[in-house]
Amino acid sequence: MAPAIDISGVSVRFMSERAAVTALEDVSFTVDQAGFLTLLGPSGCGKSTLLRVVADIITPSSGQVRVLGGTADAARRQREIGFVFQDATLLPWRNVIDNVRLPLQIGGNPRKGARSPEELLKLVGLAGWERAFPHELSGGMRQRVSIARALLGDPKILLMDEPFGALDEITRDRLNDELLQIWRETGTTILFVTHAIHEAAYLGQRVMVLAARPGRVREIVPVDLPEPRQLAMRDTAEFGALAGRLRTVLENC
Ligand SMILES: Nc1ncnc2c1ncn2[C@@H]1O[C@H](COP(=O)(O)OP(=O)(O)O)[C@@H](O)[C@H]1O
Ligand SMILES: [Mg+2]
Repeated sequence: MAPAIDISGVSVRFMSERAAVTALEDVSFTVDQAGFLTLLGPSGCGKSTLLRVVADIITPSSGQVRVLGGTADAARRQREIGFVFQDATLLPWRNVIDNVRLPLQIGGNPRKGARSPEELLKLVGLAGWERAFPHELSGGMRQRVSIARALLGDPKILLMDEPFGALDEITRDRLNDELLQIWRETGTTILFVTHAIHEAAYLGQRVMVLAARPGRVREIVPVDLPEPRQLAMRDTAEFGALAGRLRTVLENC
């Protein structure tokens, strides 16, 4: 089976009025289908740019991008990619179920056999909230709605750009666990951006540490924690050692 994501020697340069910025330089990595890779790095190291390259929003200046064995463009057109941002970006005048349905109304027919909006809301723990409006929801609940919306059509790949970065720690912990459950249940390939060391280590099968200026891969660190993960693991010596290792890699960026 082809990797879900296969990035090889990718560089992205932006030209602004004042200067040229190398957002990514010679980035290579793969993610297997149903894999979970977290991207960890300081602000400005090209994390969002990298997700946009995979989603075919940005075309790299050089290098190769393969998604599900084909081009990123083909994967986008087959709607194999879901995207979740830090801000839930829900439409305030639409209720929860209509927000989840939105991509269908823009993008055409539902895929045969794909989970319905109702099923997706159940998957993210929001059964019973279909008719609520965004202002009635907490930040964590809004983010759950945006995950459900991103999963509409059962895309094979979910790109998440600091999705829990604006949430309080307790809510973030809970959503981390729920996301792992969703991942196991759906078999979706996940590429997850964060600048929180603990979150990166807890979620990923591997953590790709990026350095800034220019954005490049510093190291890909395997995570050898028992599965399924449990929050209490974060109090173990193994987890502490892993977090320490990631911190060291980041400090030497
Ligand atoms: N559209 C753009 N035009 C010009 N420069 C950009 C653009 N997008 C990102 N950059 C620059 O590329 C670098 C990486 O940005 P970004 O991918 O947003 O980093 P991160 O998500 O890790 O914070 C930054 O220096 C940023 O200013
Ligand atoms: Mg970013």
